[in-house]
Amino acid sequence: MAKRKTAYVCSDCGAEFPRWQGQCNECGAWNTISEFVIASAKENTASRRSGYAGAIASKVETLDQIDLQALPRFSSGFRELDRVLGGGVVPGSATLIGGSPGAGKSTLLLQTMCYLAAQQQALYVTGEESLQQVALRANRLGLPTDTLKLLAETNVETICDLALNHKPKIMVIDSIQVMHVSDVQSAPGSVSQVRESAAFLTRFAKQHHIAMLIVGHVTKEGSLAGPKVLEHCIDCSMMLEGDGDSRFRTLRGHKNRFGAVNELGVFAMTDKGLKEVSNPSAIFLSREDAPSPGSVVMVVWEGTRPLLVEIQALVDYSQMANPRRLAVGLEQNRLAMLLAVVHRHGNVQMNDQDVFVNVVGGVKVAETGADLALLLAMVSSFRNEPLPRELIVFGEVGLAGEIRPVPNGTERLAEAAKHGFTRAIVPAANAPKTAIKGMQVSGVKRLSEALELL
Ligand code: TYD
Ligand code: MG
Repeated sequence: MAKRKTAYVCSDCGAEFPRWQGQCNECGAWNTISEFVIASAKENTASRRSGYAGAIASKVETLDQIDLQALPRFSSGFRELDRVLGGGVVPGSATLIGGSPGAGKSTLLLQTMCYLAAQQQALYVTGEESLQQVALRANRLGLPTDTLKLLAETNVETICDLALNHKPKIMVIDSIQVMHVSDVQSAPGSVSQVRESAAFLTRFAKQHHIAMLIVGHVTKEGSLAGPKVLEHCIDCSMMLEGDGDSRFRTLRGHKNRFGAVNELGVFAMTDKGLKEVSNPSAIFLSREDAPSPGSVVMVVWEGTRPLLVEIQALVDYSQMANPRRLAVGLEQNRLAMLLAVVHRHGNVQMNDQDVFVNVVGGVKVAETGADLALLLAMVSSFRNEPLPRELIVFGEVGLAGEIRPVPNGTERLAEAAKHGFTRAIVPAANAPKTAIKGMQVSGVKRLSEALELL
């Protein structure tokens, strides 16, 4: 018997090492490195001959010889999912849908597949739930059940062999953590099994032009392999996220070979499964009637569309020697930077104050366009003076106290006007040349100008 080849792989970042070590040199994580058996070349050739791999002979072609019309994208039935995918499902692509257990991945995919099965061959492979459990869920959700093919199996080779008989256009693997290939000795869920299974399925999808949707669980602790290990072999990766106590789920793209990344899709979990939220601004903007100090609404740009979110700040006298600075949904470092800028250029002294800032609705804002809104919210809370309810703010704040423009200024203002906002404080360069109806826009160049407007 040939000697087994092994490598050691970090389950967090996927880095490979020749021998075991306690800490990963690449990402610095401890105890994440485990043994990984490399499937031998001989076994690979054997599986090639057995049908599924060698079905299409490889040949060299120039770019213009490749037929693009043969593989058009198709809609998944959910506009929000299509948006994150970059405009629909691409045949022959492998997409990873990650999320913590209970986020609603199986529900989302079952709804999608029941819709798609009416138009084309679709196969749902469940390794976690039994066939009865899936059928029960489909019945309860009132989905059409007469066309979707189901399979309960966890061996990847068997799945691919059976799939060849049914020739599906789209396949779901739920989930990658329970799948295994026979060549690899280790248990399902280990780094080597997850990596080999995903690579096998991706190869299969590409050779037979099947759109493959792979579910992956994400856990903070535990021995399950994180989706980072998979990220280089799949085409798209997205996360279904949501707080346990909130009905809302957001689907965010992290990698996409066929479209823009950082697109956001919004869903609501109801008793009839997941429903799309077509106007997400409205849900993140449920505000009290009376204006309260420390609260301001801003427009963030999510992928290809604007989204209105409320930012809250609480500035309160601190009893401690080191006042607390806490940011939820925003970057902690930017908060520290903005406090320094407002002290130096706005003459507002907050170094004996606790500062807490939060984005309402569990949204995460990563862009610099939130700077001005965050700053005004802090000043408003500090002075205990509410900002006008109909005011919208966005803009980047520089270290010299200048207000810098952000992309898509006019579209952001138009979205705010649509939701009934009538005043705006924005960077001077973002002020529109032609007035927006019903919106009074104040363009500011410096922080001091913005503070004077309040
Ligand atoms: P599920 O799709 O099984 O999660 P995952 O596959 O990501 O682990 O979703 C389970 C959660 O969704 C569970 O907490 C209950 C909730 N849920 C509803 O609220 N309504 C429904 O109609 C369904 C099917 C699930
Ligand atoms: Mg599930």
